[in-house]
Amino acid sequence: MSCVVAQPALDVQAIRRDFPILSQRVNGKPLVFLDSAASSQKPTAVLEAMNHAYCTAYANVHRGVYALSEAATAAYDAARAKIAAFIGTPEPECIVFTRNATEALNLLAYSYGRAFLREGDEIIITELEHHANFVPWMVLARERGLTLKFIPIREDGLLDLEALDALITPRTRLVSFAHVSNVLGTITDPAPIVERAHAVGAVVVVDGSQSAPHMPVDVRAMDCDFFVFSGHKMLGPTGIGVLYGKRELLEAMPPFLTGGDMISYVGFDGVRWNDVPLKFEAGTPAFIEAIGLGAAVDYLQALGMSAVRAHEVEITSYALECISTLPGVRLFGPLDPNRRGGVVTFAVERIHPHDLASLLDQEGVAIRAGHHCAQPLHQRLGVNATARASFYIYTLPTEVDALVRAIERARVILRRA
Ligand SMILES: Cc1ncc(COP(=O)(O)O)c(C=O)c1O
Repeated sequence: MSCVVAQPALDVQAIRRDFPILSQRVNGKPLVFLDSAASSQKPTAVLEAMNHAYCTAYANVHRGVYALSEAATAAYDAARAKIAAFIGTPEPECIVFTRNATEALNLLAYSYGRAFLREGDEIIITELEHHANFVPWMVLARERGLTLKFIPIREDGLLDLEALDALITPRTRLVSFAHVSNVLGTITDPAPIVERAHAVGAVVVVDGSQSAPHMPVDVRAMDCDFFVFSGHKMLGPTGIGVLYGKRELLEAMPPFLTGGDMISYVGFDGVRWNDVPLKFEAGTPAFIEAIGLGAAVDYLQALGMSAVRAHEVEITSYALECISTLPGVRLFGPLDPNRRGGVVTFAVERIHPHDLASLLDQEGVAIRAGHHCAQPLHQRLGVNATARASFYIYTLPTEVDALVRAIERARVILRRA
């Protein structure tokens, strides 16, 4: 099988030259990195932007009245503005920097959840959530006597949005779901959920961890109330994530963490909070990482997010086509590449995913095995673990071929061909 596309969306060979790590060998074989859904690799532009900031404009932000601190603060603010534009909001103040998507979701559960949700209120999430969008709501529900409900998945891996009408009630206060599933790849159109949730006065949280890196996102068109994602999955460094919120909601919410930078006044008589977004950014922020994420956004925008998405559809279609021809392999998630992101999750009959991943590693092929931080979904699918290959802008069709060859070899080694 070969992947022939008349006009490829991206010049992947040129892109790969920007990622030094991809040229290395692992276990004597060329590295085939197929775990970008867990964390992506970084282009030199991001590494250089951070290095440049450390070498030329490093001093604590928002504190100094000297040139170096002002330069660092300006670079931090510029990164915030880039990230705002990247997800379609003209208001950089609506971008709160967090450590990652997990912290952004915890911020919402602690701040919004504990301030505005009351006993008997209902939260709706889905059966396919990552633990980051599951556990904070479960903990909140138990603590506050809330009801947690789940939008079911259908056999084809899409969400059963028909069920939403029965789940949503006047007590529904918050609906939170993954824009793209990290296991099934399922893309969920926010529009019908936002419409139904807003009709009963509930707020909508979109977990964009697997969508912001891979496709155009416009939070204003989406009309979601909150949108979260992590920098490290979209070419940026670790330790930086984003919470977008509508201004009036962020302004109404109490702080999550308290301390320096998030106050406008502290005295023996009390405190006054700073304006958003600083109200939610206690302590010295990860401003070098924010600058790195700004450079990642520049890199993605130069490629064009529509082209990034088109490449993902090409490579995912090819992977689905190749893997589905292998005997004894079960594929999970929607089979239509237009309805899924760039992850292909599968199980090989009578081979544990961890054994498979170890054998693939011998061939230089890095995939993820386990429950991918989505244990409830795996319970729902009736399996303990799965194998997952995930793709990004630097993935070549020949790497999908290497994956397929490595799976075939693993089957032979384990005498299950
Ligand atoms: C859909 C989804 N949500 C949330 C997260 C959590 O991201 P992080 O670990 O960067 O906080 C992930 C990470 O894999 C994810 O795939």
